[in-house]
Amino acid sequence: MVMTSEAKEIPATFDRKSELEAFDEAKAGVKGLVDSGITKIPPIFIHHHLQDQMDGKSSTPCMIPSISLEGMEEHSFRRDEIIKEIKEACETWGFFQAINHGIPTGLIDEMIDGVCRFHEQDTEVKKQFYSRDMTKPFVYNTNFDFYTAPSTNWRDTMYCTMAPDPPKPEELPQVCRDVLMEYSKYVRRLGLSLLELMSEALGLPKNHLQKMGCGEGLFLVGHYYPACPQPQLTFATSSHSDSGFITLLIQDQIGGLQVLHENQWVDIPPLPGAVVVNIGDLLQLITNDKFKSSQHRVLAQKIGPRTSLASIFRTHFGEANASKVYGPLKELLSDKNPAIYKEVTVKEYVTHYYKKGLDGTSGLLHFKLDGQNV
Ligand code: OGA
Ligand code: NI
Repeated sequence: MVMTSEAKEIPATFDRKSELEAFDEAKAGVKGLVDSGITKIPPIFIHHHLQDQMDGKSSTPCMIPSISLEGMEEHSFRRDEIIKEIKEACETWGFFQAINHGIPTGLIDEMIDGVCRFHEQDTEVKKQFYSRDMTKPFVYNTNFDFYTAPSTNWRDTMYCTMAPDPPKPEELPQVCRDVLMEYSKYVRRLGLSLLELMSEALGLPKNHLQKMGCGEGLFLVGHYYPACPQPQLTFATSSHSDSGFITLLIQDQIGGLQVLHENQWVDIPPLPGAVVVNIGDLLQLITNDKFKSSQHRVLAQKIGPRTSLASIFRTHFGEANASKVYGPLKELLSDKNPAIYKEVTVKEYVTHYYKKGLDGTSGLLHFKLDGQNV
């Protein structure tokens, strides 16, 4: 491993666990560090293998597909074409930018502002939400995998469970309460429409994925990536695939999001008003690898803050229906295409995913049937 000069500066006595605990106790997040005026990132944030992950892959000019959803309604002459485009994107990239999707651009901007307002409000008020208990309806912290991941990412996040059991309005922070409720209605509707289009893209009846409960849970994660004084040493979000069925992401104009496609990191540039749609691990599992849950990451940058909000379609830990079992869909299997994965409950999958942390590997590897090394 090539060590950068900065990495060599880590004190030999560095005790990661106590550094993590001290940072956690301050409850002020990465933003708190930046506000205190630091010019070097603390050792817990240094990713020692970052250079290896940058080597051998370059950002190429190729682009993830953009798909206009205008005319996605049933009986519209465009619907079949849209289904074809979605099928192609989900099979090859696992990612696409959706435009003309029905969520007003003003509401997307307002939602991004709402996430930003939450992170930039008075620290004493924000601290009241700091928690690692992800069963609460709304919490904020730095990295859900803080104590298990090999290195910490340069990011703070707010988490909000909106479905199947929506929070009481008073459980949400006042600075973004109304917009969270309003945006959730629209993003849920779009997610359900996409699940219908994806069902058809798989050759299944329109309501198949919804009937299985793929649209039941909605978990919102609002990220805040402060400007980083040493972006060459850390990640904003290290390489990972998402855990749910699908994710719908909105981002501000800063950029830095990339997807791994054919072993190349490809930028996903901000496109005003667009929603980035991607396949999550659970949809890859039930489609037996037909749809791809691709690795993606966010680079740390000198510029910032960057704000984004991911709407993850899956249930969480506590809900009754989190015990429903998911395995490769019988309809998609054949002698030539046998099941690759075991059956799993959402609760089991999410528990494994959280324990493993964002370590650059897919959580799906753990659920492969013996002898299946596709
Ligand atoms: C995520 C994610 C990317 C971003 O929340 O899973 O990949 O742009 N976010 O913040
Ligand atoms: Ni992600």
